[in-house]
Order: sequence, then structure tokens, then C-alpha cells
Amino acid sequence: MGYLLGIDIGTSGTKTVLFDYFGNTAASAVSEYALYQPNNGWAEQHPEDWWQAVVQTIRSVLAASGVKPSEVKGVGLSGQMHGLVLLDREDRVLRPAIIWCDQRTNQECEQITSLIGRERLIEITANPALTGFTASKIMWVKNHEPELFEKTSKIMLPKDYIRYMLTGEFATEVSDASGMQLLDIAKRNWSREVIDKLGIEPSKLGKVYESPEVTGLVNRNASELTGLQEGTPVVGGAGDQAAGAIGNGIVKKGIVSSTIGTSGVVFAYTDKVTIDKLGRVHTFCHAVPNTWHVMGVTQGAGLSLKWFRDQFCGKEKDMAAVSGIDPYILLNQEAEKVAPGCDGLLYLPYLMGERTPHLDPYARGVFFGLSARHTRNDMLRAVMEGVGHSLKDCLSIVAEMGIEIDEVRASGGGGRSSVWRQIQADMFDKNIVTVNASEGGALGVAILAGVGAGIYGSVEEACADIIKPVTVQPPIMENVGLYKAYYKVYQNVYQSLKVQFKALSEINQA
Ligand code: XUL
Repeated sequence: MGYLLGIDIGTSGTKTVLFDYFGNTAASAVSEYALYQPNNGWAEQHPEDWWQAVVQTIRSVLAASGVKPSEVKGVGLSGQMHGLVLLDREDRVLRPAIIWCDQRTNQECEQITSLIGRERLIEITANPALTGFTASKIMWVKNHEPELFEKTSKIMLPKDYIRYMLTGEFATEVSDASGMQLLDIAKRNWSREVIDKLGIEPSKLGKVYESPEVTGLVNRNASELTGLQEGTPVVGGAGDQAAGAIGNGIVKKGIVSSTIGTSGVVFAYTDKVTIDKLGRVHTFCHAVPNTWHVMGVTQGAGLSLKWFRDQFCGKEKDMAAVSGIDPYILLNQEAEKVAPGCDGLLYLPYLMGERTPHLDPYARGVFFGLSARHTRNDMLRAVMEGVGHSLKDCLSIVAEMGIEIDEVRASGGGGRSSVWRQIQADMFDKNIVTVNASEGGALGVAILAGVGAGIYGSVEEACADIIKPVTVQPPIMENVGLYKAYYKVYQNVYQSLKVQFKALSEINQA
């Protein structure tokens, strides 16, 4: 029997899953790590923590499954996108990684736009300069820590650091590299023009592969640490969103996913480069060779609920610890008891600034409409609805771009919540579908590993065989109208506060 290993280096932890060739889970393990916020709007993690988590979770799944290392036929890597990892000539990590949700680089975005020109930048990288993307983080280090930039010999993304540790190969793949904003999206390789204009030496960037291609083999050191067999192939893999999309079967037109993880993402497949001229959604290479995708991103989706849980739900956390039930299940039960609309309470989920549709690093979270009648549980449901409205912003832009939306597949931690799925069905006025595969990103990259190892003919074939719809939640008509009315106010609240967000940040930075 053969198995495939999918490793997903997420923001809250690393999840490693061993699958058989039918996509069934043989064993799965998670190891969490810290996120550091040294300043308001900054977000950093230690690459060494990711590596420790990867080693530990690989060891656990091998031990728990009893699968022999020789039976693991391929490894796929998925990970949080856009993070900046810098290594020196001796391969030492030079500073904590500046990760995807960090918002410190507004000035660097202006610098990139003026160095390359807004139109030319969009023409090549398919996106305007964004604080979330890696290029602006590189420029920040160049501007603020020049001595450290001088020492840099390799620039890599989070999952590509793990590839380097596993195989010794300095490489990346198209889907994740797209989010660095150094890639020519149509040509699927580094853009010499962008790199030169930003003053980055090409040798500091790894070789670019298509996602299912083999990029290297597990080396002796990694084999000793992880228990994997030396020589096991490691494929390109994918950024977490493209990986999750493969794991949800988003490999053809008409099927769109809505994922609530730490961030929230609406993801649509395209067979050609399709760009939103206003740059409100990202256009990146897909992990299916020679295809692309469009995605809208809510920075603080699951992150909003986690924040709310940690700050206001001590009771549920204690009950969960005693009963062994996930605290989110208890929160879902509480949210279900509140009527849609939360008695006129809205939430804007901009805890870490926002990408779609505002591209605004200064935006911050808001509860709007609070009255003395409101309870904590109204606020809880308002957080879930606020994330729903924000995902509706994403879906509306995808539709505006002329991309077909026949079916929306829910996934991520938030996709497991029936009440959150219903909120989305009602807000999007679309059926929300779940699929049999719950491991999203890890399954997606295990499928890519299977294609690279020659087990499946293609990504599309493997998805058609493995991923099947399981539940369909239709919209409740009465709620559709209600949410439409609230959505208008939701959109207007941001417009009214836009200037104040900036003013607030100026005081806060002073
Ligand atoms: C996508 C994005 C997030 C991160 C973390 O553009 O920023 O999905 O990859 O999940």
C-alpha cells in the first residue's frame, strides 16, 4: 500500500496528514506555535518554530498510523502565503519572519508603485502593491534594516523554508510565488524587470516550479529527524489557498470556494489571467499547471472569532476544557440562538486592516449599532455575520469580473460550522456545499504529491475521483432580504469611517 503526506504550515499551527491514495486520512497531527505582534499591525513568527512543528507532526503521523516510511511515496507542502524568511550565507535565519497579515509596509507599497509604475506593476504581477505581499516586506527590510539585508543570501516563503530544511533545495512553485509580487503571472516565472527595479539580486530567489513537479528529495539529516525515508520526493506544493482549493475540487469553471481559516478567502478558478483593474481581488497562478485563479481576501475572518473567543468566552473555554468539546462548538450553539441581523448590530472584521475590497492597512474592527439591549451573544453572532458580509464583498467582485459562480463550497474551520454556512448561504443567495474531504490544504498538496509521484494522471483527474459533494444548504429567502438591507449599511459604515481609521493610526503610531 502507498501513502501521500500533506504538510500545511499555517498561522496558528502546522497540520500534517497522511493519506491513502483514495484521500482517506491514515493519521493526522497538529502542532501549534506563537504569533508575535511587537507593534500594532505587525505580525511575526519564528521559522524555527515551523520546522520543529513539522518534525514533530511527521513523527506523530508515522507513529500513529504504523505506516512504514518506505510506503510514503511523496510529500506535498502547503503554507501561509506571503511571509518573508531571510537566510544568511550560512543558512541562518536572519530575523523573525514577517508574515502575511503584517501591515507595516504602506510606505514601501508607495515606493514599489513609483519604482515600477502602477499600470506596469499590475500588467506584470496582476496586482497593485499590497502591504500583505512579500515584495513590500523585502523593501521594508531594505529600508529599515539595511545591514541585515546586506547579509541576506536567500529570500524564501514559509513553506519553501521547510522544503529547504527537508531537501536542501532552494525552490518555490508558481502559486505561492505569485503572492511575493515578483512573479510575471502570465509567464509563470520571476519578472526580471520587477526584481531589477526593486534592487533584488536574482540569485537570492529560488528556482520556480509548477506545483505538482518534484523539487527535491528528503535528505539524510531530515530523514533522521522526521523518520521519513531518505530520497522521498517532495513536490512544489502550493500556497495555502491554492492547496485548499485543490482539496475542495476548485479545478474547473463554475465552482468557487469560500474558506474561513484565520483569513477568509473566496477562490475562483480561471483558465486565463483575469484581473480586477481596481486591484480589489488577487490574480495568481493556480496549482493546476497553466491555469490561474482569482481570490478575494478578508484579513480577519477566523481570526475575529478566535479573538472574540479568547477575550470574551472564558466560560465556554472552561466548559470545553472540562467536557473535551471544542469551544467553537459551544459558540456555534450560542450564535444559533440569536436571530439573523443581531437586532441591528453590525461588525466590521478589520482587526488586521483589510484587503478585499478596501486595500486599507489602517482599517480596524468596529461594532456598529450597539444598544443597551445587546448581549455578548449578539456580539458573537455579529462577528460571524461581519465575516459573512466581508466574504460577500469578495464574491460580488468575482461575479462582477464575469467569472461564473454555480456552486459555493464552504471550507476551513468556519466551514465546519452549520450556522456560519447558513449565514453565507443567506448573504450570498447561493447554495453552500460541503465536500467529503475535510483536510483542505493538506489533501490538496498530497494530491499534488501523488501527481508528481506518478500515482494520478493529473490534478483534475485525482480531484474528480476523490472529492465529492456531501451536503447542500440552500438560502432561506426571508433572511436573504434582511441581510441585503444590512449589507448596504455595512458597506456604508466603512466609507464613513475610512478617514477616521487613518487619523486613529496617526495618533497610535505617534
Ligand atoms: C492569502 C493569505 C492567507 C495566508 C494565511 O493571500 O494571505 O491565506 O496565506 O492563511
